[in-house]
Formats: sequence, structure tokens, C-alpha cells
Amino acid sequence: MKGLDIFRNEYLETVTNNSNTLSLLGRGGGIEFMKQTVQKDKLMILFPGENADVQEFFYILNGEMELKINGEISRLIADDVISVKDLEEVIQITAITDVTFLSVSNAMVFHSLSEGIKELRSIGEIVEKKDRYTYRHSTRVSKYAVKTASKMKLDRQRIDDLFIASILHDIGKINIPEEVLNKPGKLTDIEFDLIKKHPGDGAEMLRKTAYKKLADIVEQHHERINGKGYPFGLKAEEILLEAKIIGVCDSFDAMTEDRSYRKAFTAEYAMREIRRLSGDQYDPEVVDAFEKVLQQEGKI
Ligand SMILES: [Fe+2]
Ligand SMILES: [Fe+2]
Repeated sequence: MKGLDIFRNEYLETVTNNSNTLSLLGRGGGIEFMKQTVQKDKLMILFPGENADVQEFFYILNGEMELKINGEISRLIADDVISVKDLEEVIQITAITDVTFLSVSNAMVFHSLSEGIKELRSIGEIVEKKDRYTYRHSTRVSKYAVKTASKMKLDRQRIDDLFIASILHDIGKINIPEEVLNKPGKLTDIEFDLIKKHPGDGAEMLRKTAYKKLADIVEQHHERINGKGYPFGLKAEEILLEAKIIGVCDSFDAMTEDRSYRKAFTAEYAMREIRRLSGDQYDPEVVDAFEKVLQQEGKI
């Protein structure tokens, strides 16, 4: 039935580290729904939140845990709920027996634990080391992209997906030789053809993971609305909005960083340039939203 999905003994993804098993049961509407098991005598650690808006709940299905705060011990058993928001200190909870619980979170916690994504993120880190001029590029692009998308009122699910896609947007550069990435002069046609392969290569890598639905976003981040982008030369409506958002944030970040062949441009200059190409290369609505983000951040 439309709007209804039933999954039986089928997890989106499962991660196991020495004493913990975490299965992603569902993800949507900005929340993640997980089942977790902690083995007897092992610890479950709750970390202080970096973001005060993050709320997490843990509902114990079976087993027994023990929590020590200021020397006082609390026992946690089936049907107990732990609620965590804006935690000020690290908390350690010991499993007295094997424990299984459900957890719900409005933050994207799973991707940071997910093996598939972890591997891709480490590829992203290698790329940023290879290309001397992209250090922390993906992180900055992801921040701009999420803010731009919120301005455009995309729903939580799409923003979460965009976040991961933007972190991983350039992983396909792993296949580009370092000399080409850092070449000071103009690229030859052959070299540029190598560069043009990175969106497709990145998408291929994602298609092998549980995050395959993000592959198209990654594949399209260098498409431009006038059809002159790559790899496909898609036009306006053919390009995913998420890819258009990454396209703008990516161009801005590239312009405002030093490159092998030129110094960084100022934020004002880069924004003027993007505005000049709005409606031609970049989606005007994305450009408007992005400009508001920069203004609010005091960057322009
Ligand atoms: Fe790229
Ligand atoms: Fe990029």
C-alpha cells in the first residue's frame, strides 16, 4: 500500500564493533531508528552533544545495565528509557547482562559508524591530502550545502542525504593522478578528461554501498543548467536540486581557496562571479539562497 513499508528481519545496514552491534532499522523524516546490542560487561558510552538540538532516546528491550553518576549507581532494566539531549559530560553505562535496546535519534549518527561510509570518508580524506588545495574542502561544502538547503526549505530527509552526498562528492578524485590535480598550468584535453571522470567514479563507489541513492547527486555535481557541465551535459530540470546546491557551494569554495595556478579570490568576488553566472550555469533559486547564507554568516 502507498505510504506503508514492512521490513521483516531486514536491516538497512548493520555495524559491529568488538562489543556492540548496531542495526539501522529505518531512516526518514530526519530521524534514525536503530536496534543496538551491547554484550555483558561491555560499556556503552554516551558523548556530550556538539549540537544542542540533537535528541536521542534509548528504550531497553531486555537485559540490565548499570550507570554511575557522582558515585551513585542506577540500574536500568527492560522498559526503561534513557533520554539524551545536550549532555554535558561523557557517561559510561555498563552492561550487566547482554542488553538489547532500541534507539531513536534526530541526528544522523549512523553514517559516522557505518563501515561503508567510513571507508568512503577515508577515501575522501586521502583525496584531500592528494590535492593540496582541497584540505577540508568537502567539510566546508557540506556546511554551505546544508545551510542553503535549509534556506530552500528542503525536508529533513533530503538535507541529511545532501549532507552525506556533499561530504563524499569528490571521492572519485581518488583515481586522478596527483600531478594532474596539482598541475600549476592549463590542463591538456587528456588531463581534463581524467578530471571529468571523478563524478561518475564517485557515484560508482557509492552504488556499491547502502547509500546508493546518493550516487546520482554525486554524479551530477558538475552539471550546469545550460547543459555545458559534465559528465552528461544535463540541462536545468534534468539536474537534481541537491546536485545544483553542491555545484554552487563547491564553486564558491574552490574560488575562495588558493589553487596551484592562482591565489584565492575574496568571498565578495566569488559571490559576484556566481551571481553573474546565475541562470546560465547555476540555478537562480540556489544562488539566492546561498547568497543569503553568506550574508547571514557575515562572509559578504
Ligand atoms: Fe568535484
Ligand atoms: Fe569539490
